[in-house]
Amino acid sequence: MRFSKPLRAALIAFVAASVAVSATIDVPDHSVDPCAAIGDKKWVSPREVRACYSSFKVNGAIKTNILDVAEKTAAFHTSVNYQIKAPAPFTSEVHENLMQDISRIRRQNYASEYDFHIDLSRTFKRLNDGHCSWTNYCYVSLFVNYLPTPLVLLTAADGTQNVHIAYEAFTVASAEFPDQISVWQDALPLGLKGKLETLSGAKVLLINGKLPFDAVNANAAIAGGYQALGARQNVYFSSYRRVAGEWGYVFGQFAQQALPLDDYAVLTIQRVNHTLLDTIVLPYRSRLGSAAVPFQDTVSWRANNCAAVASTNGVDYYSSKVPDTSAAKLAPAGPKHLLNVAADNSPLTDVTLPAILQPTLVPLEGSRNVAQFYLARDGKTGVLALGSFSDTNYSAFLSSLLTGLQSLTKLGATQLIVDVTNNGGGFICAAQWLHRIIAGPKSTTVPQAGFDTTARAGPLAQLIVQSVVTNSTDPSQNLLYNPVNWRDASNNFFAVDNNWLEPPVDFVINGRKDSFSQRLGQECQPEGFPDDAPAEALFDTKKVAIVSNGRCASSCSLFSIAMSKLEGSKTVVVGGKADVGQKYCGTIGGQSTDFVTIDSEIKTTGLKNHTLAPPDMIVNGVLGITWRLAYGVDKPNEPAEWQDHAANLNLPLTANLVNNPVAIWEEVARRVF
Ligand SMILES: *[C@@H]1O[C@H](CO)[C@@H](O)[C@H](O)[C@H]1NC(C)=O
Ligand SMILES: *[C@@H]1O[C@H](CO)[C@@H](O)[C@H](O)[C@H]1NC(C)=O
Ligand SMILES: *[C@@H]1O[C@H](CO)[C@@H](O)[C@H](O)[C@H]1NC(C)=O
Ligand SMILES: *[C@@H]1O[C@H](CO)[C@@H](O)[C@H](O)[C@H]1NC(C)=O
Repeated sequence: MRFSKPLRAALIAFVAASVAVSATIDVPDHSVDPCAAIGDKKWVSPREVRACYSSFKVNGAIKTNILDVAEKTAAFHTSVNYQIKAPAPFTSEVHENLMQDISRIRRQNYASEYDFHIDLSRTFKRLNDGHCSWTNYCYVSLFVNYLPTPLVLLTAADGTQNVHIAYEAFTVASAEFPDQISVWQDALPLGLKGKLETLSGAKVLLINGKLPFDAVNANAAIAGGYQALGARQNVYFSSYRRVAGEWGYVFGQFAQQALPLDDYAVLTIQRVNHTLLDTIVLPYRSRLGSAAVPFQDTVSWRANNCAAVASTNGVDYYSSKVPDTSAAKLAPAGPKHLLNVAADNSPLTDVTLPAILQPTLVPLEGSRNVAQFYLARDGKTGVLALGSFSDTNYSAFLSSLLTGLQSLTKLGATQLIVDVTNNGGGFICAAQWLHRIIAGPKSTTVPQAGFDTTARAGPLAQLIVQSVVTNSTDPSQNLLYNPVNWRDASNNFFAVDNNWLEPPVDFVINGRKDSFSQRLGQECQPEGFPDDAPAEALFDTKKVAIVSNGRCASSCSLFSIAMSKLEGSKTVVVGGKADVGQKYCGTIGGQSTDFVTIDSEIKTTGLKNHTLAPPDMIVNGVLGITWRLAYGVDKPNEPAEWQDHAANLNLPLTANLVNNPVAIWEEVARRVF
């Protein structure tokens, strides 16, 4: 990747010139409604989307409402004070003072509501915590920015690493964007016009005139979601994920943006089997998001996509007026429903992994939705591809995990790969069940196959518990704060009148006083587990390898940490920059929740008028938080969130391995067992 200085200067000048030219021809016409220009359209330019978004000025009441909800809900988020300056090894990666920034944003003036949104959203993203996030559907994924050239990071035989356009780029883009591919074909320079396919696999030498990792790292700084730099770098590149019904293709954040951030990418590339370099300017194109409600102009954009909807705010679970569509459905009822899942801000797509990359192995009995079981061709390596810990049917999901592992052992599998690439979590007890059935009954799985936890004990949280305990405001035991839903550190259920937040356990974190609950014990056994847990381990846990791109979060983290640190299983991160320490998981939490659930707890206990209660939200937003933190293994009295999760092996991606699950599993089996 060495260029002579004049060549680099020329390339940079070229970039500047091409952007300048486009800027002069792309002046929006302010005499018409800029949102009408994109209304009822499927494909538009990012500039047109920005013109619409930027035309809406800040409304003081809306801004104050969003900030009040954010600030008062954050009092229920476990990690606010830790995130001001995270303990090692994440000190340099997480240092965001959320409360201070919310105060700053209150005082700051913005040219538009879109600018305000970006500032608040990036403030949350700097927490690098996939549980604590702000999503305003007025903007996020209303239109999604695409390029037809997803990127991958490959390692050559001599160990050098280069960014490439994915080999499958044209196959994926032409299948997903049949109605737009000609725009990109025509955008290519003379000689390449119409030959988009010949870009697949090309080495990328410069992105917008700079070395590719400048762009990767600029994105990592605003990507959020994971503490570790490696995971935030890896999200720039394409990857795969097992989803219900199919093998999905993930474009990565170079080729897919949830906001209309960029207009063009200027790539200097060396095509496969070519020696000369090409510089191409590819326009991003914005496609109406799959969850967007169609609109025609500013008024209908705001009404259809920006105003609060039925599920935005919580309800009093005992009010006779609770509508069916409301958050009442979210009322937790026992451990089956408790979730630990990262809020994924990346847009929903149903892009399919190209046939040539899909596993051709036959899925075994027990395969279901996000969970697929295969026996590798070596006849001894079983594979569980697990894209999530969620399913539409909890008991069927847990049963199928057992059936699938038993299918493998019946066929003679003696070692197991669990591929959790892009697994953002789901049911907490499903993660514990998988640990329990792989490892068998032993001190690390019975009665606790997960980790003890703690919730934050802020002033309003304490009043909620008091209301439940002294005023019996939750007779059906729906509330998160109801003592009967939890066990103490000795794994005994709290009595109905036990105020489990009393006395709070006081800490000083980053110089600030904070209060947490007493230690909570296990929550899944026996009521959250099927009653046919096998009496013996299904696999030798040292012959289990957990494989991902480092993007395993939440319940996936709880499972991986238990297997790695308690059972001696191997952890493998596939891909990533060689000089960046790859972590096998992140965003651990313990239990995640959101504003709407907390709002229901507050309304059900009659505390909505308290000065510390957040107001009802008036926009179409979702605010996620971490409600409980799991304790770690290395330091058992400190949160797992801040303990190291270095992978045992970082497997470099080559042209033969990248985005090819079976090839990756075979290579992992060769290397770790
Ligand atoms: C590049 O050259 C090799 C060797 O001639 C050939 O096998 C391969 O198909 C070529 N690839 C492309 C994309 O042209
Ligand atoms: C869930 O799966 C179980 C089998 O494990 C089945 O008995 C039950 O009917 C299913 N529930 C729903 C709602 O489909
Ligand atoms: C319990 O109910 C009484 C009477 O409505 C009320 O005054 C009190 O504040 C309630 N206590 C709590 C902790 O909500
Ligand atoms: C809150 O205050 C409003 C207005 O004072 C009142 O109508 C409402 O009933 C109160 N709600 C609760 C839960 O106390």
